[in-house]
Amino acid sequence: MITVDNKTIHLQGRDMSYIVTVGEHGDLLHYHFGRKLGIREFHVPVTWNIWSAYAPEGYTLENVPQEYPSYGYTDLKPGAYSFINSDGNGIAQMKFRSLRIEKGAASVEGMPCLRGAGEESGAETLYISLEDTKAGIMAELAYTVFDRYNVVARSAVIRNISEKPIRLTSVYSSCLELDRKERDLVYFPGSWANERQMERCAVKRGLRIDIANERGGSGHNMNPFVMAAEKDANEKSGEVYSLSLVYSGNHSTLVNCASDGSLRILQGINPCGFEWILEPGESFAAPQSILCYSDKGFGGVSRELSRLYRENLCPSSKSFAERPILINNWEATYFDFDEDKLVEIARKAGEAGIELFVMDDGWFGERNDDRRGLGDWTVNKNKLPSGLKGLSERINREGLKFGLWIEPEMVNPDSELYRAHPDWAVHVPGRTPAESRQQLILDITRDEVREYIIKAIKDVLTAGNIEYVKWDMNRPMSDMPYPGYNHRYTLGLYKIAEDLTASFPNILFEGCAGGGGRFDAGMLYYFPQIWTSDNSDAVARLKIQYGTSMGYPISAVSAHVTASPNHQNGRVTSLKTRAAVAFAGVFGYELDITKMDEREFEEIKEQVKFAKKLRPLVLNGDLYRLQSPFESNYCSWEIVSPDADEIFFMSCRILSETGMTDPMIRLDGLDENAVYIDELSGERYHGDELANRGYLPKYEQKDFSSVVMYLKRVIDDKSERSL
Ligand code: DGJ
Repeated sequence: MITVDNKTIHLQGRDMSYIVTVGEHGDLLHYHFGRKLGIREFHVPVTWNIWSAYAPEGYTLENVPQEYPSYGYTDLKPGAYSFINSDGNGIAQMKFRSLRIEKGAASVEGMPCLRGAGEESGAETLYISLEDTKAGIMAELAYTVFDRYNVVARSAVIRNISEKPIRLTSVYSSCLELDRKERDLVYFPGSWANERQMERCAVKRGLRIDIANERGGSGHNMNPFVMAAEKDANEKSGEVYSLSLVYSGNHSTLVNCASDGSLRILQGINPCGFEWILEPGESFAAPQSILCYSDKGFGGVSRELSRLYRENLCPSSKSFAERPILINNWEATYFDFDEDKLVEIARKAGEAGIELFVMDDGWFGERNDDRRGLGDWTVNKNKLPSGLKGLSERINREGLKFGLWIEPEMVNPDSELYRAHPDWAVHVPGRTPAESRQQLILDITRDEVREYIIKAIKDVLTAGNIEYVKWDMNRPMSDMPYPGYNHRYTLGLYKIAEDLTASFPNILFEGCAGGGGRFDAGMLYYFPQIWTSDNSDAVARLKIQYGTSMGYPISAVSAHVTASPNHQNGRVTSLKTRAAVAFAGVFGYELDITKMDEREFEEIKEQVKFAKKLRPLVLNGDLYRLQSPFESNYCSWEIVSPDADEIFFMSCRILSETGMTDPMIRLDGLDENAVYIDELSGERYHGDELANRGYLPKYEQKDFSSVVMYLKRVIDDKSERSL
């Protein structure tokens, strides 16, 4: 609900309030973001209550929490935007011009954003226009709130209202001003095969921290999801604010802890390499930034965002639809396969109950290794003599759906496409572009390049019975020919993704970028699941999946059981532990199932059966993290159904220890008055005991031992006690 009292606007979510107000000089000020407040008059104006010798009347904007601050006038902290106008200066102080409130969620031009049209969505949007007529610039800010979430989705559009061009040099989407308090930042850096590692650091006054990525996609090295938590916040308690950017290009969350202790956090497109010329009358739209508030710790934020993304971000027809249990041939064969080998894998997989066969890289052009063929989207008939039609029919006859891998944005210099159109690769004229994995990037800012890609992929997707696509992207972006290129590229990517996903509504698309190099809310708008990491080792995955779950639903986390020793790090783990970890995601296999011995094969059959039972929980359930692999020798989590009738529990002790007891684990989210039965062991447990005394898993005396429970509510506690 959004209410306006004079010039104070109160946005209410489920149990949170966000309040903005127009100051006496027309500045848009921030009043509150946190626990829900009543609808009434507030004590405006607001200031940080700092004495300033230079502003005896108390109106230095720097000392006032603001909604979209400008740098350079009476505020000398980093601003939400910067520009240079035709006079050569970039000074502005935008003042309130107008506001309107509409039912439904805001849309963002050319970019993905939260869904929620009309009244029935429970969403309402506040639009506020600000302007500085002297500078010739205006901003339209959008704030969407939903009655069932504790989030505010913000976006900004900057318009040139002058007669001359304006050069934008930065445009952030949101600004969050927080009062002086001891807080920590939690953020998710990483690298290829090691994504979303969780880091926590204290924000001390005087520090400026840029949680950013400028490698092209949203990045292996830093995810566009950041939390600011009070010092003692943990999984269950404490005030936590989060910012998530719905964007798949270079991003920045700039945290400025001023020397006076106040905190300003800006989130948006990374200004590095960014510039945008606005001709008179033109505007620039910045991506959506979702602010979330929870007083229930990190777990509260994660569950809030999980529900929001499942219900209002991921494609609605796919988000809650059962995902098929798949087998992918990449780690089974790499490039070395032919039709018969693939059918052989599919046949055996079908016997185990697996439902979808995915043919990975290497099926097209001359793609017999990763040096050639990207861009040539025609079947390699030496490998697949009956083409996509024949192969998909053979796979379907084995009782499995068929899906395939594409990497539409890329080209190898050794390809027909590159030989025909060398100028289609991103490059700076006169310079040889840098290759990465022997590939170059197609310039999808150009209409003809996008048209080629869309047609080529449409031809592929209509050539057989294709029901799933894995959309990969395997290199960082270099050689950008002009400032602002990365944003134009990202807009081009969204156009292609929009066209292809809309043209094939029955295909399930999975995102991928060398594993988890583009795991962001922008991609989730098109692809309800993403290959989380090229690291498929169960132990490495504990951290990767734990970190990812902080900002994203587990129903988006693609997780496969692969061979042991693991291909990325050589670790030997049991089949049991590999599956135990992968169960908390979109479950599948990526190994040569034809080479498993009888005992392993039987185990896989049981795992597949269990994963099918678990599927609704992964799609709908709430995740509770119980032990952190970043802080301990253990990793434990639970997925709890909305009615707390079913609970999946997993605990892994990473290294075996002697002479040390294992800690009890207190379960969360369950019904303390219920009795549960673990359907895997037949043991019965009282909810209050699991929650308040705890559970002691019986690990095996070896490294990487895991314990799994599938608890189902059986009977009311009262009746059980009276038995
Ligand atoms: C990177 C992906 O993450 C892998 O799963 C696989 O698809 C390879 N690319 C294929 O080149």
